[in-house]
Amino acid sequence: MIDELEQIVVTEEQLAERTRELGDEITKFYAGEEVTVVSIINGALFFTADLLRNVKLPVRLDCTRISSYRNEARAQGEPEILYSVTLELESRHVLIIDDILDTGKTLSKITEMFQKLNPQSLRTCVLLEKLGRREVPFTADFVGFRIPDKFVVGYGLDFAERYRNLSCIGVLRPEFQNPPEWA
Ligand code: IMP
Ligand code: MG
Repeated sequence: MIDELEQIVVTEEQLAERTRELGDEITKFYAGEEVTVVSIINGALFFTADLLRNVKLPVRLDCTRISSYRNEARAQGEPEILYSVTLELESRHVLIIDDILDTGKTLSKITEMFQKLNPQSLRTCVLLEKLGRREVPFTADFVGFRIPDKFVVGYGLDFAERYRNLSCIGVLRPEFQNPPEWA
């Protein structure tokens, strides 16, 4: 699978190191508080699992699923919320975790929705941030890596649901985007 990448953008070692650093940062930031984490799956699954094991605080975990891609390398229209959280968010310190901040549409939509539930605080943590692609102004509170505007896969990020289980993050060779056998 790794041969299908033309470039590695973040290595497995860098991911391990940065999730430890971010875990420390989050632990210090919320010191003494309980945090309600909402992970946006499937993309944030691997990042959430590694990050939270480095957060030394009481944590409640829930997931939500949002879709804006339909087997394409570019977002199609507005994000669609496929299911919402079941944990109570009111008066809680809520931390949303996503894989990548790209156009900003997903996180601005979800933070707007969650804000209506009156959390005590609402913050966001993203593994990756692509600069220069924002369509909606949005700044994440915790960012793993800032990367160039290239479509990347691995460590939770997919192309047409493939490549999530790569242990690094990289750019897919063009010939592997839309192979006929995936139709
Ligand atoms: P936004 O709403 O445009 O900020 O996009 C966020 C979502 O788009 C992410 O949660 C990803 O699922 C998806 N996405 C954006 N860029 C990439 C990429 O380079 N590879 C894989 N998925 C991506
Ligand atoms: Mg996604």
